[in-house]
Amino acid sequence: MSIIQIKDKKFALSIPEVEIQNAVRKVGDAINRDLADKDPLFICVLNGAFMFAGDLMKTVTIPSEITFIKLSSYDGLYSTGKVKEIIGLNESVVGRNVVVVEDIVDTGITMERILSSLRAKGANEIKVATFLQKPDALQRDITVDYIAMKIPNDFIVGYGLDYDGYGRNLKDIYTVVSE
Ligand code: IMP
Ligand code: MG
Repeated sequence: MSIIQIKDKKFALSIPEVEIQNAVRKVGDAINRDLADKDPLFICVLNGAFMFAGDLMKTVTIPSEITFIKLSSYDGLYSTGKVKEIIGLNESVVGRNVVVVEDIVDTGITMERILSSLRAKGANEIKVATFLQKPDALQRDITVDYIAMKIPNDFIVGYGLDYDGYGRNLKDIYTVVSE
């Protein structure tokens, strides 16, 4: 098994690149089918979703736009439960069909915040596409429309997700090894 070290923690390979890419393609196919005549605006949630959004958009073939917002809720290994907006939305979403693109829905606190803000700004139909979901960690009643993969409630890095800022560049997913 492949083990890597990031700062003070060891991580073991858990989802290889080919599995990730297959799962992303399935989400793209579903979006192409469902939203063909909806002119969607994709909203990528930085930082974590940059890699998923990049690969997903290469599989999207329907007319669409993409924009970016930046939020932060994690401190090291744990969600703080408080969501900070660091870069907001510049585009109007009034009457638009939007797809929020996230790296992972964990407690769901971040997504709940994003969804209520988009509703308040007048978005029409709002869909959520997440690369990962940790179903056992969910604390909020939110609907996630597209989920590439479901994972256990363990801390992971890679494919955009970080440990204390590091590991986002890894093309595979690694799970923390508990001492
Ligand atoms: P939530 O608000 O608890 O759903 O957390 C959402 C954000 O926490 C995600 O968008 C990620 O950026 C981050 N996050 C959640 N779980 C992990 C993890 O296992 N590794 C790295 N970041 C994570
Ligand atoms: Mg994120």
